[in-house]
Amino acid sequence: MLVRLVYASRASHDLSPHDLQDIVRRSREHNTEDGITGLLCFSGGTFIQVLEGAREPVNARYKRIVMDERHDTPTLIDYEEISERRFAGWAMGQVNLQRLNTALLLKYGETQKLDPFRMTGAALTALFDELVTAGAIECSGPESR
Ligand SMILES: Cc1cc2nc3c(=O)[nH]c(=O)nc-3n(C[C@H](O)[C@H](O)[C@H](O)COP(=O)(O)O)c2cc1C
Repeated sequence: MLVRLVYASRASHDLSPHDLQDIVRRSREHNTEDGITGLLCFSGGTFIQVLEGAREPVNARYKRIVMDERHDTPTLIDYEEISERRFAGWAMGQVNLQRLNTALLLKYGETQKLDPFRMTGAALTALFDELVTAGAIECSGPESR
């Protein structure tokens, strides 16, 4: 039984590339152990994350994540039961923002600025799907971490 959870949050302070790498590295370690896959996007001080996996580990990890002081105002955007994973290749893939072009943002959002708080879960998932197809997800499957 699989679920997909999508949330957005705002960084609580300026995060360096090193801070971000640290979050991603630790996430990949834990997620591989828990059978969780997904994507993390960090743009303009805003996080968007997709978590997929069995219900109990996804719920438990989300509870840990929302308590993390590196971000605040976590907003649950979408939570659904799914029959298959969309992002099975990534213990926690990072979205390469260079590939987020204006046309793609306007296709799914109200403006050319990425604002997950004004997007549906379906639109965010479709946007990430396109980025996967475009090869815009950096690193790294469970096997390579
Ligand atoms: C934006 C953001 C995303 C995160 N994503 C994950 C994640 O996918 N998996 C994970 O294990 N930890 C993630 N973390 C870290 C968790 O908040 C927390 O530090 C970690 O799960 C602690 O796990 P432990 O107490 O079991 O060691 C994330 C943190 C932030 C700020």
